[in-house]
Amino acid sequence: MIKFENVTKTYSKGVRAVDNVSFHVKGGEIVGFIGPNGSGKTTTMKLLTGIIKADTGHIAVNGFDIRQDPIKAKESIGYIADSPDMFLRLKGTEFLNLIGDIYHVPTESRRERVEKLAGLFGLSEALSAPMMSYSHGMRQKMMVIAALLHEPPVWILDEPMIGLDPKSAFELKQLMREHTQKGNAVFFSTHMLEVAEKLCDRVIIIKKGQVLYSGTLEELEKQNKNKSLENIFLELTEK
Ligand SMILES: Nc1ncnc2c1ncn2[C@@H]1O[C@H](COP(=O)(O)OP(=O)(O)OP(=O)(O)O)[C@@H](O)[C@H]1O
Ligand SMILES: [Mg+2]
Repeated sequence: MIKFENVTKTYSKGVRAVDNVSFHVKGGEIVGFIGPNGSGKTTTMKLLTGIIKADTGHIAVNGFDIRQDPIKAKESIGYIADSPDMFLRLKGTEFLNLIGDIYHVPTESRRERVEKLAGLFGLSEALSAPMMSYSHGMRQKMMVIAALLHEPPVWILDEPMIGLDPKSAFELKQLMREHTQKGNAVFFSTHMLEVAEKLCDRVIIIKKGQVLYSGTLEELEKQNKNKSLENIFLELTEK
């Protein structure tokens, strides 16, 4: 459902943030994206969602080329950006209605989904207040609800667990599992190795814009017997 092939992105100051990266994510898979700060995770996700353009390579989501068919590709994506501080002047309901309008979510389904998701994340009462007054975790949860409102098949989540309390993190992980059980795809970045270990079918480890490892964490642990996941990661990324 995600095709990312031979993609390179150099920022204007000459930083090659993504250097000939290729990977695929199939339906039914949760794939974790891990790597040190500044290794190119957010850049990869912005390329995948069409927020920024690649210099070279081919990107397709749900069968739609992000260059040839950007609207169809974007309609297929639920994206959580790396910062939840946006539209802060809007009340929760106003923000979700704006997102619902953009993605053409019918009023009835919109109401049902908001009720379900806001209930799940304990946000129902906060919806009538401006998002400026929300805590960081509450804003993050609004981004989760907004990303899922149009029930997209492909989720692209940039550090979605950041700031979530244990119950909310649990609910999000559960939603990710249910989503892939229905044959959809989840691609998310995280710095939490235990989360990746428990949740992911595969991981992609990136450093300085290049893929160092792609496969299961189980296999990686097998290759490095008697070492903790943390040590394996440190050795791999410090080389
Ligand atoms: N808008 C930009 N202009 C110039 N350079 C940028 C820009 N955004 C990111 N970079 C650079 O690209 C590289 C990759 O950054 P990116 O944000 O993709 O990393 P990341 O893996 O998401 O890091 P983190 O774990 O801290 O979120 C870094 O060297 C960063 O300085
Ligand atoms: Mg990032």
